[in-house]
Amino acid sequence: MSYTIGPVTLPSNVLLAPMCGVSDLPFRRLVRKLGVGLVVSEMIASKAMIHAARKTMRMSTPCSDEHPMAVQIAGNEPEIMAEAAKLNADRGAAIIDINMGCPAKKVVKGYAGSALMKDEALVGKILEAVVGAVSLPVTLKMRTGWDDNSRNAPQVARIAQESGIRSLVVHGRTRCQMYRGRADWDFIAEVKDAVSIPLCGNGDVTTVEDAEDLIRRANADGVMVGRGSYGRPWFLSQVDHYLRTGEKLPDPDLSRQLNIIFEHYDAILSHYGVEAGLRIARKHLGWYSKGLAGSSEFRREVMRLSDPKDVIALLRAFYTPLIEQVAA
Ligand SMILES: Cc1cc2nc3c(=O)[nH]c(=O)nc-3n(C[C@H](O)[C@H](O)[C@H](O)COP(=O)(O)O)c2cc1C
Repeated sequence: MSYTIGPVTLPSNVLLAPMCGVSDLPFRRLVRKLGVGLVVSEMIASKAMIHAARKTMRMSTPCSDEHPMAVQIAGNEPEIMAEAAKLNADRGAAIIDINMGCPAKKVVKGYAGSALMKDEALVGKILEAVVGAVSLPVTLKMRTGWDDNSRNAPQVARIAQESGIRSLVVHGRTRCQMYRGRADWDFIAEVKDAVSIPLCGNGDVTTVEDAEDLIRRANADGVMVGRGSYGRPWFLSQVDHYLRTGEKLPDPDLSRQLNIIFEHYDAILSHYGVEAGLRIARKHLGWYSKGLAGSSEFRREVMRLSDPKDVIALLRAFYTPLIEQVAA
């Protein structure tokens, strides 16, 4: 099913969540290639963006094959957020997303991310400033509220709609829950009820049935998937297919998975350089191998290797017998 964000119609209502340290360019491109409605950059601090920190630029520059891509900005000063939005619009973003969901201490201490939900007047000012600064559609990602006593997402959603926000993502947890407990998909329905703009539900979707269940319970127009994509960048296309047809696609076979891993690994090394790339790739390799026979030993070995050629050889040595076993 398609999903509409103002003038942008996405081919699918299954979106990849922004995840610092995970949804970087190599991962986004891979997920995009395998099938997804929209990819969103990792959160970038508006101030850093304006000061053009190299890392921030690298995190948010869309690649032509990621199009349309949303760039997510975080901050708490309306003018600075507006400036960052403009810069990203100039750099090729198709959509600007505002982060009001990040629970990290260092972010909420600066009164950004989910902390903003505590100050509805400031929310309105930020959203209006950003919407007014760019001609691109602007979206908002938030949690259900700060804590159980202040689940004000429906009210924030109304403010967002009045400010010209074109679509919402709601992660069904409060800030104080961090990532504990279960995402409350039923509460997301209350947010959906409060507005007429499209809304994506988010939180704890790890199976195709979860996605369908979330959409039904939250009355959502789409679903955003984060951690469920760890080690399986193809998962979002499986979700999309299931939502359209009710049919479950199998995972790619292991030899296809190995090719995907090689492609991902290569992209990580070219994007970050060998030293940083080796380190960053380790967590992905760990996720890919999870659940396969001998995976803990494989992970231990990967941690020790410092030459990409050895990592490739280890990947081959680990996957080949598993592939042959299946073929036999
Ligand atoms: C490692 C990690 C990094 C994240 N970084 C961001 C971020 O930069 N911006 C944001 O809005 N949410 C961020 N999130 C939250 C996710 O986008 C998503 O809302 C959350 O993980 C719940 O969805 P899930 O259960 O499908 O993972 C992050 C989550 C994780 C696990």
